[in-house]
Amino acid sequence: MFMLELFSRAMPQVSSGGPPWFQTVPTAPVDPILGVTEAFKKDANPKKINLGVGAYRDDQGKPFVLRSVREAEQQLVAAQLDKEYSTITGVPEFSPLAAKLVFGEDSRVIHERRVFTTQTISGTGALRVGGQFVEKFVPSKTLYYPTPTWANHLPVFRNSGLTIQPYRYYCKSTLGFDERGALEDISKMPEGSIILLHACAHNPTGVDPSKEQWKEICSIIKQRKLFPFFDMAYQGFATGDIDEDAFAVRYFVEQGHNVLVAQSFAKNMGLYGERVGALSIVCDSAEEAERVGSQVKIIIRPMISMPPLHGARIASKILATPSLRQSWLEDLKMMADRIKAMRVALKEGLKKEGSTRDWEHITNQIGMFCFTGISQEQVQKLIKEHSIYLTNDGRISISGITTSNVEYLAKALHEVTK
Ligand SMILES: Cc1ncc(COP(=O)(O)O)c(C=O)c1O
Repeated sequence: MFMLELFSRAMPQVSSGGPPWFQTVPTAPVDPILGVTEAFKKDANPKKINLGVGAYRDDQGKPFVLRSVREAEQQLVAAQLDKEYSTITGVPEFSPLAAKLVFGEDSRVIHERRVFTTQTISGTGALRVGGQFVEKFVPSKTLYYPTPTWANHLPVFRNSGLTIQPYRYYCKSTLGFDERGALEDISKMPEGSIILLHACAHNPTGVDPSKEQWKEICSIIKQRKLFPFFDMAYQGFATGDIDEDAFAVRYFVEQGHNVLVAQSFAKNMGLYGERVGALSIVCDSAEEAERVGSQVKIIIRPMISMPPLHGARIASKILATPSLRQSWLEDLKMMADRIKAMRVALKEGLKKEGSTRDWEHITNQIGMFCFTGISQEQVQKLIKEHSIYLTNDGRISISGITTSNVEYLAKALHEVTK
């Protein structure tokens, strides 16, 4: 691809003389999130900050590979495993471990073999396969998503053949969860609709319902007979505790909901580019889980044939080896704690600069992102006048903040909002 780009820049544009198949192909818009990084890379300002990307950075602003991942990789290399084809549902030992992580070590539905789980191409792949499965087998073809939501949700579910509709989630005036709006909208959803829920660390707002609010949501979803589709991209990242972050999913399951969960190991194991994820579907019985699984397999097979080996082997080793698991949980907590500390540092920095705005939401929100509540115009000023890059909706990735750039950021944020 890169070679092709270089080549086409260097060469004069001449027609091949063949039929003009692609003459009318329009240029597509750049991805709203990845486009931020492209603009950041072109900026020569040494003080530039990238707050667009949803990947963890250490306090030096560098990508971070977890100790457990390095160790697991070394063990895998030493074992000299073969590179044979995997199975349609991936590395066999991976799925049961991934399912236990979401539903709990002593989950009843796992014990009763009512959960079908497959490895997927990270969280996005789980959403896509899950989207296609519900399009095929849930009678309603409408999926309701919270507004705002992760930008990629919309094309992923549209491409799965679903009709997508918004429900209220975030309140612009309180910068918090719009409980009344959400409950009102959920109670009006037609019976049998699919509802997308962010299991924890809602992206892009960083606003999660409280446990009490989750219980209320769960009960209305049950009354309305809706199908809960959980996106769990940040287990452990919200609070630093994998069990705490699984509260909503486990509560729904305890209440008798047969949920679907799309799980990602990109953030919590730092396995971004390895593309490790899982899709789990809770069923009424072991026999139903078998049937459901057979259908999921025929969705995966023509899509990708089967998921890749390496990342899932790493995740399996970490989850199954007590010492590696311990080290992983420690690093996960360390990452979540650094993010929390940067939230505090930014809020305090703004206060020190003399900002009189209410910035409480910076520390009230959780997970990797903060929805600052600033306008598009203020976002543009941050980019153009201060080389601070973020998405147009005012979302910042807290993991891009470090002890060395937080003061510059606070100053700039105060400058554009005063
Ligand atoms: C809410 C949400 N869901 C899913 C994903 C999918 O991530 P991946 O495909 O890298 O696992 C992301 C990534 O940023 C996300 O923020």
